[in-house]
Amino acid sequence: MTVSRLAYGTMSFGSRADRAMSERLYRTARDSGINFFDCANVYQKGEAERILGALIKAERDKVIITTKAQSPMSDDPNDRGCSAKNLTRSLEGSLRRLDTDYVDIFFLHGDDPSTSDEEILSTMQKLYLQGKILSFGLSNYSASRTQRLITKAALCNLPRVQCIQPMYNLAKRTCEIEILPMAEREQVGVITYSPLGGGLLTGRYTNAAEPSVRLVENPRYRTRYGSADYSRIATEFLALATTLGIHPATLAVRWILANPRVTAPILGAATIEQLTPSLMAIQDCLDQETLDALDQISAPPPPYHDRSELA
Ligand SMILES: NC(=O)c1ccc[n+]([C@@H]2O[C@H](COP(=O)([O-])OP(=O)(O)OC[C@H]3O[C@@H](n4cnc5c(N)ncnc54)[C@H](OP(=O)(O)O)[C@@H]3O)[C@@H](O)[C@H]2O)c1
Repeated sequence: MTVSRLAYGTMSFGSRADRAMSERLYRTARDSGINFFDCANVYQKGEAERILGALIKAERDKVIITTKAQSPMSDDPNDRGCSAKNLTRSLEGSLRRLDTDYVDIFFLHGDDPSTSDEEILSTMQKLYLQGKILSFGLSNYSASRTQRLITKAALCNLPRVQCIQPMYNLAKRTCEIEILPMAEREQVGVITYSPLGGGLLTGRYTNAAEPSVRLVENPRYRTRYGSADYSRIATEFLALATTLGIHPATLAVRWILANPRVTAPILGAATIEQLTPSLMAIQDCLDQETLDALDQISAPPPPYHDRSELA
């Protein structure tokens, strides 16, 4: 599959973006050359899949779509996790809502330590042979479990992990330690989420005049980006973007594009005004001086052995 350099994420479909806005966002992404759309069963409990399904209907084979399973969809203990039962039933539901007979990449949304590698891989093989998925990927997995699944697949002649989806932005660089090097070594595609830190790197969370949304109202994001160091990063990042005369969203996405280990960052936006500066990231590259200045604001993480002097 050949994917565009930017992907568009549909997490806002059916929540911050109603159906009409979702359609405008989809068309704007398509008109900018994006053919790659990330989705998940859990986004608005299936509503994002329904909206995306209707939008791709007329051009299904021209676009690459993902969906995900593993997150709890109800209180039913079997309606979550990576068991054969849940993955099979979950994908059936996703295909129905997406109104398609296959997904290009089926992601496991997070690790489920209680399900064996063999059960996960043989389920993927069954779905692959049935033509319901073209490939599968892992999101929010450790490098060690990803590597184990890759090795077991090779030993047992089962389908290989083709793509990973870690969180990655200037404020959250942990995946640089082990996940990105593993992906490069194993030649696995990397699509990264939250390029703007859920909005942290747009400046609005340090600007009292502009009401903030996700980082204030959503307890998960409030916890994820709540420490003082993240506000310092946001403030210094905004100051640098202002000095450079670049929209902070453009700068944040451009910084990810500068990393050759990333296949495509997944853009997130709830309006066209939000999406436009992120799309502009592709029009230019960052020079070394700017990359160094960004490293001063948020330092690269230490290597896995924590001996920073050897990095
Ligand atoms: N695999 C996973 O676990 C996982 C997790 C998260 C996301 N994802 C995927 O990655 C995609 C992108 O993630 P994300 O939404 O977290 O990305 P993000 O780019 O870090 O955050 C997007 C949010 O930032 C704000 N924003 C964007 N552009 C802005 C601008 N120009 N000015 C001001 N605010 C702006 C908006 O927040 P408001 O909505 O508050 O206005 C927008 O919803 C998702 O759609 C989804 O497909 C995957």
